[in-house]
This record gives sequence, C-alpha cells and structure tokens, in this order.
Amino acid sequence: MAETTEAGLPKGFRSAEQGWPALRRIPHPPRRVPLLGDVLGVDRHRPLQDSMRFARELGPVFRRRVFGNEFVFLWGSRLVADLSDESRFAKHVGLGVANLRPVAGDGLFTAYNHESNWQLAHDVLAPGFSREAMAGYHGMMLAVAARLTGHWDRELAAGRPVDVPGDMTKLTLETIARTGFGHDFGSFERDRPHPFVRAMVGTLTYAQRLNSVPVPLAPLLLRGPARRNAADIAHLNRTVDGLVAARRRSGGGDGDLLDRMLATAHPETGERLSAENVRKQVITFLVAGHETTSGALSFALYYLARHPEVAARARAEVDRVWGDTAEPGYDQVAKLRYVRRVLDESLRLWPTAPAYAREAKQDTVLAGEHPMRRGAWALVLLPMLHRDREVWGEDAERFDPDRFEAGAVRARPPHTFKPFGTGARACIGRQFALHEATLVLGLLLRRYDLRPEPGYRLRVTERLTVMPEGLRLRLERRPAPAPAPVTVPDDGPGSAARCPVRGAGD
Ligand code: HEM
Repeated sequence: MAETTEAGLPKGFRSAEQGWPALRRIPHPPRRVPLLGDVLGVDRHRPLQDSMRFARELGPVFRRRVFGNEFVFLWGSRLVADLSDESRFAKHVGLGVANLRPVAGDGLFTAYNHESNWQLAHDVLAPGFSREAMAGYHGMMLAVAARLTGHWDRELAAGRPVDVPGDMTKLTLETIARTGFGHDFGSFERDRPHPFVRAMVGTLTYAQRLNSVPVPLAPLLLRGPARRNAADIAHLNRTVDGLVAARRRSGGGDGDLLDRMLATAHPETGERLSAENVRKQVITFLVAGHETTSGALSFALYYLARHPEVAARARAEVDRVWGDTAEPGYDQVAKLRYVRRVLDESLRLWPTAPAYAREAKQDTVLAGEHPMRRGAWALVLLPMLHRDREVWGEDAERFDPDRFEAGAVRARPPHTFKPFGTGARACIGRQFALHEATLVLGLLLRRYDLRPEPGYRLRVTERLTVMPEGLRLRLERRPAPAPAPVTVPDDGPGSAARCPVRGAGD
C-alpha cells in the first residue's frame, strides 16, 4: 500500500478545503452527487480527458470533488505562470505521484522536497545528462534505432502495418536500458511486451485507479488489483536487483548512470546513494526514461502521418541536413529544427506526462486572486494550458509546428509550454528525450513514407501518462537519399548546448 495518513490518504495529501480559504469562488461541475461528488458522466479509465472536458466548461481554474476530497485544477496561462514562481511554490507529491511511492520510494521523481536523498541523487546524477554524456549515448541510440528499422523493414516486407506505441515502447525501453544501465531487454526479439513493461504498465494503471475509488474502501474494492500490483512491484524489484548484481559482479561499466549510482560520491559531502535508494532510482529511470518518450514519438508519428505536407517538409529538412550520411552524428540531430518543431507541437497537444502538482511554500495569493495557505496545492492541466486560446490563438486545437518557429516562441509569454515540468523538479531527462526522439523521427522520415490506416481516429489511452491507442501505420520504403552537401550554420536556436536540467521550456 502507499504510505498513508491516518485518514487513509496518500501522505502529502491535503483536501482543498483545508488550503484554499476562498474555495467557494472557484467553480465546480453543476451536478454534484451526495457522497460521491463530481462523478456524473466520468470515465474512470480516462480521468485526464474528463478533466479536460470540465476545464472547457468551467474555465481556467476549477475544482472537482471525488468521494469527499476536493481538488483544484488549473490551466489558465496567467495562473500557471504565477505557480511557476519557485520562491513561493514547489513541486507537490500528490495523487498519482504519491501512489507510486511503493514502487519508486524516494527516487528522484517521487521524492518529497524535504527528503535529503533528492538533492543527493540530483547532484550525483545530473552530470549523466550533460552534453558530453549525451554525446556518449548517441552511438547507442543509433544502434537501438537500427533494431527498430530492422523490425519495421521485416513488417513492411510481410505486408503488415506497424504497431506504433508498441514499437516505440520497445525502442525507448531498450535505449534507456542500454545507455543508462548497459542492459538489453531483448524487446525486439519478443512478440509480446517484455514482462518488465507489463509490470510497469500494471503499476502505473493501479496508481491511477487508486484515485477513482473512495480511499477507505480501496483495500476492499481493489483487493485483486492490489495483489497483482504487489506482484508487479516484486517483478520490477527482481529485475532491477538482477541488473545491479550483474554490474557489481562485472566490476563496473563505462561510466553510465548505473556506475554513477553505485560508485559516485557527492562532490561536496562525499555521500553515496544507499543500496535501497539505488534500487528506487533504477526503477525510476527505467520507467520515467522510456514511457513518456515513447508516447511523444507515437503522437508525433500520428501527426506526421495525418499531415503529409508537414511530413514532406520535415523529410526535406532531414535529406538536406543529413545528406547521404549513413549514420548522422550527434551535432546533426540538433540541426533538425523543423523535426524538433513537429515534436514540440505534438507535446503541446498531447504532453505525455499530462499534469504536475504545485504547492504553496508559504501563505500566499495566487495571481492576486486566490488565497492559498502554506501546503495548499493544485494540479496543472498541461493539455489545457497548451490549448489556452489567449496564448495559442483561436486555432489552438490545430496541429501547426510553425508555432515553434524561433520568432513565435520569443513572442509568447514565459511558462506557457511546460511538457517537462518546471523549476528545480523539472525533468532531468529532457535533453535525453529530445535528442532520442528527434534522432528517431529523422531516421524514420528518411527511410519510410508513413500512411495512416484508413478510418483510424485518435483515441488517447491513460495510465498516468498518455498514449495514442491502437495506432498502426502502413509503411512504404523510400529510396536511399542522394548525396547532398551539408551546409547548415551552427548558430541559432536549437544548436546551443543547454543546461540539461534547468529551463524546462521556461
Ligand atoms: C518526452 C519525454 C518526457 C516527458 C514529457 C517528461 C516529463 C516530465 C515531467 C512533466 C516531469 C516533472 C513532474 C513533476 O513535476 O511532478 C518530469 C520529471 C522527471 N523526469 Fe521526465 N519526461 C520525459 C522524459 C524523461 C527521460 C528520458 C528521463 C530519464 C532518462 C526522465 C526522468 C525524469 C526524472 C528522474 C524526473 C524527476 C526529476 C526530479 O524531480 O528531480 N524523463 N518529467
């Protein structure tokens, strides 16, 4: 079970009544059911898309009551910008994230701000995401991508469409396993998802489900799922323990993330991660390091297949920048500016980690309007922030990568695009994900024409993260590109080395 308070709620949970003195001013859905709350017409498998529907009806800040607990959601750009002020607000480990504590404990993603292991692990692991480290991962990313294209070539030869989310999951799991931990799950050699992936999907789905039942009744209503969840967690632990034991036996790798976790002391304090914390970090990185990137690639491929004119423009850029280079170099990836815009625009419409929570560090007034007590918190609904018409215009629902053209980005207010979170607890793997995804999109665009299956309509499946459900594409092999000179200037946005952690789209 999750660590809980006396009331049975995840630790760190405060119902909004306790933290928002002027809660009454915040609208809620009109038809509340006694005891149950705002549950009419909701789909417990799609809580995010329910919240998006409520957001459209109720505006930039609203509240929902679920089984006696009240939550505040917000997405208006002015409110989110104020919530990004690190001097007054910080990450809140609540709801779905707190439900993952039994899996990931005080690993980086699920650690409470006050836990000393957060700073320790952050300082020890951040250099693993420096430009130099990333350049070191590039060759391994290419090798894993070659396994994907090998698999897709075989599917194409057999006349079969490809399973995009399934194959992107294989790709991103193998990439983080190989680059971070020198491990090979053999995903492309399997017909069904690797048991690690099945266990991970199980724990994410369970964590999401815990939010949809009354807390005191959870042990009764979810007895079976709780048993399966315990088995899934045990499987994740066993996998990780095996991986760590193998590394200890081999006496060290090539300085990857696992080596850092096992052997690197904090530069100032000399402290090291404990064995239990290493276990939590390995699970954290294996899960956080692939699930969201696989969704981002899947949505980008969906939009590319749906918008042939965008795909043609992106492909022309790949041909121009990479020429006939068999294997693009590290620096040639950041030069795919338009491909990167396709990715950004996909992450705008479907940010694959679709919400994060922020809490007040002191009594304060949000955006000059909403008083909050210290510890009060709210969920930021990213797909709605990214569709705020005041920022993105009346056509905010339309897919248009040119919104990320450098001038357009500069013209927008800060804190309006937040797929990687914000502040000190923003995504440590942002550059890793962007490099991997841009590289793979470039390779796929260069090799294949992507055709949507007739009649497919986008359905979004949720398990804390989001993914296009059942997306299959038909491929056509393109001829190898003709030799072309590579004449792309080095300056301009996209080519500069950025801090791997800070500035998550701020
Ligand atoms: C498109 C891909 C990705 C997206 C959309 C994404 C999104 C996010 C978001 C929104 C957060 C902040 C969550 C919060 O505030 O509660 C976060 C944190 C984190 N992400 Fe990512 N992420 C991605 C890829 C990755 C990768 C590739 C890795 C590792 C290799 C990674 C590791 C982490 C970790 C460890 C944290 C916790 C950081 C901390 O609190 O110190 N993520 N991510």
